[in-house]
Amino acid sequence: MSSNRRHFLKNIAVGSGALAAGLPALAKLTGTSDDEMNQSDVRVQSSQQFNMCGYAAPKIETVRIGVIGLGQRGSEAVERLSYIDGIEIVALCDKYPDRVAASQKTLEKMKRPRAKEFSGEEGWKALCDSPDIDLVYTPTPWHLHTPIAVRAMLNGKHAATEVAAAKTLEECWQLVETSEKTRKHCMMLENCCYDFFELLTLNMARQGMLGEIVHAEGAYIHDLTKDWLFNKNAYADMWRLKENIGHNGNLYPTHGLGPIAQCMNINRGDKFDHLVSMSTNDFTMNAMAKKLAEKDDFFKPYADQPYRGNMNTTLIRSALGKTIMVQHDVSTIRPYSRIHLVSGTKGAAQKWPGPERVAFGHSWIKKEELEDLHKKYSPPIVNHIGKIAKEVGGHGGMDFIMDWRLIDCLRNGLPLDQDVYDAAAWSCLVPLSQRSVAKKSRTVDIPDFTRGAWQKNKPVDLTLNGGATTGVRDIKPDLKM
Ligand SMILES: NC(=O)c1ccc[n+]([C@@H]2O[C@H](COP(=O)([O-])OP(=O)(O)OC[C@H]3O[C@@H](n4cnc5c(N)ncnc54)[C@H](O)[C@@H]3O)[C@@H](O)[C@H]2O)c1
Repeated sequence: MSSNRRHFLKNIAVGSGALAAGLPALAKLTGTSDDEMNQSDVRVQSSQQFNMCGYAAPKIETVRIGVIGLGQRGSEAVERLSYIDGIEIVALCDKYPDRVAASQKTLEKMKRPRAKEFSGEEGWKALCDSPDIDLVYTPTPWHLHTPIAVRAMLNGKHAATEVAAAKTLEECWQLVETSEKTRKHCMMLENCCYDFFELLTLNMARQGMLGEIVHAEGAYIHDLTKDWLFNKNAYADMWRLKENIGHNGNLYPTHGLGPIAQCMNINRGDKFDHLVSMSTNDFTMNAMAKKLAEKDDFFKPYADQPYRGNMNTTLIRSALGKTIMVQHDVSTIRPYSRIHLVSGTKGAAQKWPGPERVAFGHSWIKKEELEDLHKKYSPPIVNHIGKIAKEVGGHGGMDFIMDWRLIDCLRNGLPLDQDVYDAAAWSCLVPLSQRSVAKKSRTVDIPDFTRGAWQKNKPVDLTLNGGATTGVRDIKPDLKM
């Protein structure tokens, strides 16, 4: 855990996170309905209004940003973004005014002007409706990601939303249709695509060093139980624990999936075709809720609820006949892993369990050879901004690389690395894994959100051509481009 995050946990008001409101006496398990699947099929048959893949929006010299959701992630985002030249954080919004005030202090510390303030349950609507904002950046609980992104785009703003971008298939389509209609970017902030080894494997895959990619594996395996899900001082209003009730599937697929989907050119030469998904029972969460409820009435509403099965495993087959395994487990004791295995006809790369490894034969190559690969094949963005990103921080630097690249693309009128089709295709595992689990792991078709354009869309641009003009503020004395 970063020291920022620990500091945040220590300091946030317990009162703002302590209500168990909004939890029915006994929640029910839900999944994507037949109706929703049928409506999605109709949309797949329709034509794109406009292809947002590769779309270059007009340049914005100074990107005026509104940040909605100033909790653990959002408060860090305000600080990270403040390092970047060519931005102004002009609006801050959180349900709780004390969190807005805390982020105003961050702006002051970063020698940035105060931002306009919005608060309350629906303050985000006024922010999305206000003029003079170019980008709405959203690290809120999951249920608000799509409503905020859609309202922002309809009001002429680009949308950048935390993961996952959508909770339902209907929401995935709303994002796609709104982005196409408004020609506003909708980027899901999948920071793991910008981690150093992931960028190396992406470029190696692009250079053909791994041959044809045949199979890949990704995951989000991170024990969040004690310190996060069941910690009254962590997620606001216990939102993330509530998400684990009634939704049985992969609730957080994109950290593992995004980087490998880019290596496999999903939506840009290949596409997800169908999936099957299986979950275990829950062996920990209800037990933990019941134990806590014995001593603390606060946890009583969380006992005897239909918790998601601990481990979910989803298998995807692509149109070109390749396979992907994605796992999700945030509630058993295991070391952290996103797996990140990319396996091709000429080689393989794997990040977890560590150390990071690459093979071009029966054995993994030596550490020194891997260091050489980093030098030769890390894409230009790593050399350009990697060192500074490590100093600014945010999951070892990947968060800052992502923010810098987003702003640099907007300022230079370049297409974004992650478009609305990526947001929809990577996020739709949330509802579709639940549908498959609910139907004894039956096959579920994955909609082609690009409606055929995947066959012609170009892969993500790994050069910095036309960009790399955005500087970083020299607030820390040793920060130099
Ligand atoms: N990419 C990553 O590495 C990463 C890491 C952590 C969290 N996240 C994502 O970031 C998002 C936020 O997670 P978090 O850990 O910061 O949770 P959090 O609970 O700490 O923060 C959420 C914030 O949203 C606010 N909020 C709730 N309802 C609101 C409303 N109606 N209007 C305005 N604000 C509202 C809360 O008060 C809180 O301050 C989630 O989507 C999560 O998945 C991503």
